[in-house]
Amino acid sequence: MDYALLDKKYVWHPFTQMQDWIKDDIVVIERGKGVWLYDMAGKKYIDGVSSLWVTVHGHANQALNDAIKIQLDKIAHTTFLGLSHPLAVQLAAMLIELTPSSLNRVFYSDNGSTSMEIALKIAYQYWQQKDGGKQQKRTKFVTFTNAYHGDTIGSVSLGAIDLFHKIYKPLLFDTFNAPYPYPYRFNGDAEACKDHCLQALEQLFKNHGDEIAAVVIEPEVQGASGMIMTPPGYMKGVERITRKYGALLVVDEVATGFGRTGYMFASNAEQIKPDIMAVAKSITGGYLPLAATITSEAVFEAFLGSYDEQKTFFHGHTYTANPLACAAAIANLELFEHNNLLHNIIDRAKQLDELLKPMQKLDHVGDIRKKGLMIGIELVEDKSTAKPYSWQDKIGIRVIEEARNHNLIIRPLGNVIVLMPPLCISADELAFLVDGTYKAVKTVTERA
Ligand SMILES: Cc1ncc(COP(=O)(O)O)c(C=O)c1O
Repeated sequence: MDYALLDKKYVWHPFTQMQDWIKDDIVVIERGKGVWLYDMAGKKYIDGVSSLWVTVHGHANQALNDAIKIQLDKIAHTTFLGLSHPLAVQLAAMLIELTPSSLNRVFYSDNGSTSMEIALKIAYQYWQQKDGGKQQKRTKFVTFTNAYHGDTIGSVSLGAIDLFHKIYKPLLFDTFNAPYPYPYRFNGDAEACKDHCLQALEQLFKNHGDEIAAVVIEPEVQGASGMIMTPPGYMKGVERITRKYGALLVVDEVATGFGRTGYMFASNAEQIKPDIMAVAKSITGGYLPLAATITSEAVFEAFLGSYDEQKTFFHGHTYTANPLACAAAIANLELFEHNNLLHNIIDRAKQLDELLKPMQKLDHVGDIRKKGLMIGIELVEDKSTAKPYSWQDKIGIRVIEEARNHNLIIRPLGNVIVLMPPLCISADELAFLVDGTYKAVKTVTERA
């Protein structure tokens, strides 16, 4: 069967201009092992973006496969509405143990967007119900420049990437927008950038504090906007200001959670204590869709009352807490511990300091940002002025296409080349990934 042909005939791919897709050569992946993906012709590629930021212990991992198979022989799915099951309970206890000490309750869903949709609905309803509704004016959210929280209408309302979000504007609710620190594009050093952003956030609170339900932020790293990373002390500052004005702090750890930044959660980097945290992506080690919105006990308590008080959180998805996904998540977390994976991430991150040096010297590499194994390489037309390539140049797309010739699957975010390998990657595999990326960047930018 010619799968490429049939794909072009029947399928509509996410975030893809299908007119180009139908013309181009496409890669059809048949299987994976470890950090490698294999296409239908048997050609192998390093999975340089962890199959969209999810793969942890590699593909076709025996322990994860076995955990799912064992559960499969018991039951594949049972509803979580009005029933419970052991693995969801066990996983909830593990998540509470691992996440910051402010968090106590796990509400499951099945992807990052829904976990954020749930976070914002909980934050909103919390203020409607807390203290007999004394602060019902708190209905607005503070979001950040370039934010990305998913593709459903609520999470898009929190987002600020024009290319993805602008067209839906009439459908969205308004938010207050604060600048997220982007030192490379700030006129001043990282410290000044941090101060500027914190002052702007505080000003929003001074002007609108009694209307603000929650600050919603991607801690440490904004992923989808191009791996934009905060200077030290920034997240602590956000927490301090949010607390000072009494709003809730919601962290979106969909991308940063489960080791990606070198910490189990990015919130741990500066020891912040959120009221609500959303996690998804790597929770199952990259195997199955599962997400969780984890809240403090105080938030949870605002939803308690007799049935006729109507404080219930009326929200739930059909596949909430799917047992197979929970089995994968538990096996994933056990392997983290067993393989001492955080150490591997820290070692590989150190190795990157050396590996990336030649890349930084290339004429069109403006900025290289990294935390843990989240890496963004920002390509610029003119390095001396940081002038960006125009989007029509499709520079990122051309680099990742060239990277296929070097056996890499990587993805761009605009002019930023993203590397986010599976967290189990070995020293040799990481060197292979960076070397191939270097060659692809050099070939494309020096030809452009
Ligand atoms: C920070 C963040 N939040 C939410 C999402 C949405 O997750 P999903 O694609 O699983 O809906 C993403 C996806 O990339 C993300 O990076």
